[in-house]
Amino acid sequence: MTEVINKSRVTSLLFVLATTFVLITSTAYIQTKASAPGDAVPKEIVQVPQPEKPVEQVRKNIQVLQGLPDSQLFPVMNFIGDSLGVHCDYCHVRQGTDPKTGRDIWLYESDDKTEKIRGRQMIKMVQDLNKTSFGGEQKITCYSCHRGRTRVERVVPLPPVDFTLPKTDRQPTLLSAEQILSNYIKAVGDENGTNFKTISYKAIVERSQGRTNAVWQQILPTTQEITIKEPDKYLLKVTLPQGISMQGIDGTVGWVSSNNGPTIQLGAAELQQLKEIAALYQPLKVSEQAAQMRVLGLEKLGDRDVYVVAVATGPLTTRKYFFDAKTSLLLRRTTTTNTMLAPLPEQVDFEDYRDVGGLKLPFIIRTSGLAAFTTATRKFTDIKLNRAIDDLVFKMPGSRK
Ligand code: HEC
Ligand code: HEC
Repeated sequence: MTEVINKSRVTSLLFVLATTFVLITSTAYIQTKASAPGDAVPKEIVQVPQPEKPVEQVRKNIQVLQGLPDSQLFPVMNFIGDSLGVHCDYCHVRQGTDPKTGRDIWLYESDDKTEKIRGRQMIKMVQDLNKTSFGGEQKITCYSCHRGRTRVERVVPLPPVDFTLPKTDRQPTLLSAEQILSNYIKAVGDENGTNFKTISYKAIVERSQGRTNAVWQQILPTTQEITIKEPDKYLLKVTLPQGISMQGIDGTVGWVSSNNGPTIQLGAAELQQLKEIAALYQPLKVSEQAAQMRVLGLEKLGDRDVYVVAVATGPLTTRKYFFDAKTSLLLRRTTTTNTMLAPLPEQVDFEDYRDVGGLKLPFIIRTSGLAAFTTATRKFTDIKLNRAIDDLVFKMPGSRK
């Protein structure tokens, strides 16, 4: 089921994707959590962007998910597994491992497990519910009922909330999106946008599920150097056992290069992805205008009060920002893309803000998507502001003069 189309291009793309943040909205790749911690080889499937085929034309036994773009199948399956708190093998048959590659052999099309049949009935039920009871809006998902478990709660927990007691918490007056955003900019310390010209980070990357062994390290490196230069330059440098790999943005040119393969210039969609990733390393991590934003309210994030602000970034994509009500700093960003069955979320958390040359910057960035192996924590060991950095380092290798 691995579609390898053009090996060198795929290898490089894999490098881009594996070393950057999770972007499941992309059609450029599909991710699975089909690999168990002990697997010898990770199981990402990488596809070169091409016209999207619906899943029933690509897979063997699709009865209820017809019309789903194939690139969304694995993210949706991850959503189902996460909703029930199970691995793929809860519903799908695994038939040993391939002795040559060490990979698991999956018979995803098989209907031998009753759980899969039940799952299919549930998909149908959810589709019907949303159609008949929620005007076609996707209000109900597997998670609405399952909450991370195969069993579904039926009885409310006791004791109940006593609504007759006097309320202690007053409703606070909400700030506007403009106020929240300008407080954030002030808190970061970049009010007039002149406080920084360059920024360079050294990071250690930690992965979930012990994915730090030699095989994983080849594609999921554990140290990175990131450099940004205003207004539009970005460089990520990763040291791997097999050599140094890089990706860069130089104005309108995006590129990846590795010691093993050729340098490749990115297409428009890939460049856009890379820009979104680079934006997370800017001191200010919000690029949308306050006028486009909606204040959803004051919520709890852990033990902190946060303002939640939403903005539509595409017809199917919503982004939410979570600002600390006390410090005004950004604590979380989520981006959710709707599909025909389930919303696909990505999350970035910003922690451990410290002062660097007058700016407040997070020293920990955590990213996660639906597949467990995409969870990554970047801990910055060093952040330097306004070092002199030559434009040359951002140029695509081969075009450097
Ligand atoms: C709760 C049950 C359930 C879980 C868990 C689950 N799936 Fe599925 N999967 C299904 C059902 C049901 C279908 C068939 C959908 C249809 O008929 O349209 C399916 C179809 C598939 C297919 C297409 C098979 C074909 O050729 O027709 C693939 C591939 C797949 N799943 C992968 C996965 C992966 C990878 C995971 C783990 C991340 C996973 N699934 C987890 C229920 C599940
Ligand atoms: C409206 C509530 C609701 C929604 C939504 C829902 N389920 Fe269920 N599901 C249930 C209930 C209730 C059961 C029966 C649980 C039990 O027997 O304790 C169940 C059972 C199951 C089981 C069998 C579990 C077992 O081990 O016996 C599977 C598999 C399942 N659901 C998959 C899904 C999938 C996949 C989705 C999303 C496409 C989904 N469910 C959405 C309510 C729901």
